[in-house]
Amino acid sequence: MLKKPLIMGIETSCDETAASIIQDDNSGIPKILSNVVSSQFDVHKDFGGVVPDLAARSHAEKIDLIVEEALIKSKKEIKEIDAFAATAGPGLIVCLTVGLNFAKAVSLSLNKPFIGVNHLEGHALSPKLHTNLHYPYLLFLISGGHTQFLIVNSLGNYTRIGTTIDDAIGEAYDKTAKLLGIEFPGGPKVETLAKKGDPNKFKLPLPIINKGGCNLSFAGLKTAVLKIVKNIRTDQDKFDLAASFQNTIEKIVIKKTQLAFDEYLKLNNKKRDFVVAGGVAANKGLRKKIEELSYKNKFNIIFPTLDLCGDNAAMIGMVGLEKYKIGEFSKHDFKVNPRWQLDENAKFLKGAGVIL
Ligand code: KG4
Ligand code: ZN
Repeated sequence: MLKKPLIMGIETSCDETAASIIQDDNSGIPKILSNVVSSQFDVHKDFGGVVPDLAARSHAEKIDLIVEEALIKSKKEIKEIDAFAATAGPGLIVCLTVGLNFAKAVSLSLNKPFIGVNHLEGHALSPKLHTNLHYPYLLFLISGGHTQFLIVNSLGNYTRIGTTIDDAIGEAYDKTAKLLGIEFPGGPKVETLAKKGDPNKFKLPLPIINKGGCNLSFAGLKTAVLKIVKNIRTDQDKFDLAASFQNTIEKIVIKKTQLAFDEYLKLNNKKRDFVVAGGVAANKGLRKKIEELSYKNKFNIIFPTLDLCGDNAAMIGMVGLEKYKIGEFSKHDFKVNPRWQLDENAKFLKGAGVIL
């Protein structure tokens, strides 16, 4: 019997140093043999956001230990690995360089293929680590740096049908958290506070809700939250503001997802599979609303398991495995690409002056 390919994934695009070993399986769903993620909360918490140079230094200090831990947990030796896949972008250039150079060096020294991976493609394929999922499908990518509706036509082939024109959804959560006095990254805690509040207490704007198709906007929310925060007195006010924010995000997401469903079907796509991936896909309130809407529209909704929503290296290994199987390897002069888009033909839609 032929050996089932073993892939090592490495992820250092932002503030998580991660390594994972996955193995192909006859079931069509690869086995995750290890998936080690080391977060840098302590490094950045006093700064209220990720400091690129500190993040890169921390990756450089830890990468070999994280890789070693991933190997030990998988009970495999490095010489058994068939290919090394690492995130090449998008992300922070100084951080991406650490993981990418590490993977290149190991692959060169062991004479094994090296594969540069798009981080967003990792999120896009993450449910394939536990679900039998086939192309094409509709994707809503919601993370700290990105918010996009994309049609996943096949590996490496994406059509963007909607994007944020300003802040990413996770960024909106983190900024609101900061205004509420919650330590970075506060996104998940906003959801916790929201449970104790009145979702209708404060009226927040719904930017571009009736224009721009399935493009989205969140920057106006931050400004509105800032104005309210100045006048709140009690903890209950805080809970009410968190709940109102969560409620507003749900309204925006539901309206825009409905438009994305319509657009996807209009483009003659028949298979109604809908993947919602990225860090914010862990939000339980959003999951519930999206589930209800998908059911109503007869879409089969697929979320990654919670451990695969946030940044991890198993999803990078997943892309690596698909590329390995079709012999799509990268050369060793493959460069980091901090702005690597999934749909290279999509129009740039950010900042003042954007016409929707
Ligand atoms: O995908 P991810 O780990 O990193 C990026 O590629 O950006 O996403 C991180 C983002 C952060 O903004 C974090 O606050 C947000 O996901 N996040 C959440 C929740 N869990 C993580 N936002 C809202 N609710 C959550 N439960
Ligand atoms: Zn991510």
